[in-house]
Amino acid sequence: MSKEIIDKILISHEDIVNKTNELARRINDDYRNEETPIMVCVLKGAVMFFADLVQHIDIDVAIDFIAISSYGNTTRSSGEVKMVKDLSCCVEGRNIIIVEDIIDSGYTMHYLMNSLNIRGAKSVKLCSLLSKPSRRVVPVEIDYLGFEIPDEFAIGYGLDFDERYRNLKDICVLRLED
Ligand code: IMP
Ligand code: MG
Repeated sequence: MSKEIIDKILISHEDIVNKTNELARRINDDYRNEETPIMVCVLKGAVMFFADLVQHIDIDVAIDFIAISSYGNTTRSSGEVKMVKDLSCCVEGRNIIIVEDIIDSGYTMHYLMNSLNIRGAKSVKLCSLLSKPSRRVVPVEIDYLGFEIPDEFAIGYGLDFDERYRNLKDICVLRLED
């Protein structure tokens, strides 16, 4: 079994707070004259970001939750995507803002955005706290992006490794040693 080492802080909680406020301001401006959007939290990784983000939204929004299969206890995507919990709202004709923790290969968001478009959403936009552009396999357009990060495994502020470390306030790098 490999040893898990919390290597360094990648993004401090203070930087996350400032960026979250900035993204919320942009969403407020973009949707002020639009029909009430549904902000969709992708469980579980985006839960901290989502909760902080929506508190700075000052326009009418609906919120909903969706869960998509994740990596389990490995750090690489299989490319296989599965919906674990679907939305409770009907998306037909609605403006959707997906709120995600991180875009890595892009498989998950490609699948989710596609499926919401097929279900007749009026618009589908993506807000992601993090992106690892060097790992992209499928192109994904990120409308509201927090931070680009290098190809390292990020934990904390909702992001997990094997369901742990989500409670850390900062985003840190996890290193595995044999
Ligand atoms: P993708 O489908 O490869 O883009 O992976 C997206 C999902 O994988 C994210 O929603 C995360 O749950 C998980 N993931 C990707 N990279 C990381 C990471 O560095 N730390 C924690 N989870 C990650
Ligand atoms: Mg996720």
